[in-house]
Amino acid sequence: MNKSDFTILRIDGSARHEGSVSRQLADELVQQLQVEHPGARLLHRDLATGLPLVSADWVAANFTDPAQRTPQQRNELAMSDMLIEELQAADAIVMAVPMYNFSVPASVKLWIDLVCRAGMTFRYTPNGPQGLLADRPVYLVMATGGAPLGSAVDFASGYLRHLWGFLGINDLRLIGADGLNRGAEAALAGAREQMRAAVTNRDAA
Ligand SMILES: Cc1cc2nc3c(=O)[nH]c(=O)nc-3n(C[C@H](O)[C@H](O)[C@H](O)COP(=O)(O)O)c2cc1C
Repeated sequence: MNKSDFTILRIDGSARHEGSVSRQLADELVQQLQVEHPGARLLHRDLATGLPLVSADWVAANFTDPAQRTPQQRNELAMSDMLIEELQAADAIVMAVPMYNFSVPASVKLWIDLVCRAGMTFRYTPNGPQGLLADRPVYLVMATGGAPLGSAVDFASGYLRHLWGFLGINDLRLIGADGLNRGAEAALAGAREQMRAAVTNRDAA
């Protein structure tokens, strides 16, 4: 691939812009990817700015045959269409997500509800659902205050791994700064080590 054709999609879930660990690590990761792919296009979806809730009208529009949708129904789905286009355009995805109350921030769940569309990002088959997004690396940056990632109280990282797989993306590379309250320096050092390994793995892939 011509390197200048490379597109990075960055998705941020932290409510904070100042002092956010997940955003800081995502900054560093994007910089590393830009070194690997000079001239890469960067798309940024900041979920802290808010997304609409899925509504009854949205559900009805989604379940209407695309050829039969009214202009209002097409308008209802416009944001969802845009978010899906961003996903489809990305060669690599950086998703930075803090743990909120043992799971993902509500802003991230709103995004998930808008991008999971039957016929667009997944489809039903006799053998169960099938993801429709082509596989590509997802660098999942996660930050937690106390909960260890992968522990019994982590309902975030496993959920996100499942979700990406559901959409067809299995190349998920977790970069975790967990337990920041127990020692931020060690947590950040561990995350940066994972980041280096994740980027190296991408090069080998
Ligand atoms: C609303 C809220 C809920 C949180 N819930 C948890 C939690 O359940 N478990 C945990 O380990 N940390 C929790 N934290 C701590 C954050 O995961 C931690 O501060 C993380 O660094 C936040 O990401 P950020 O630095 O990118 O903003 C919570 C923080 C906030 C603001």
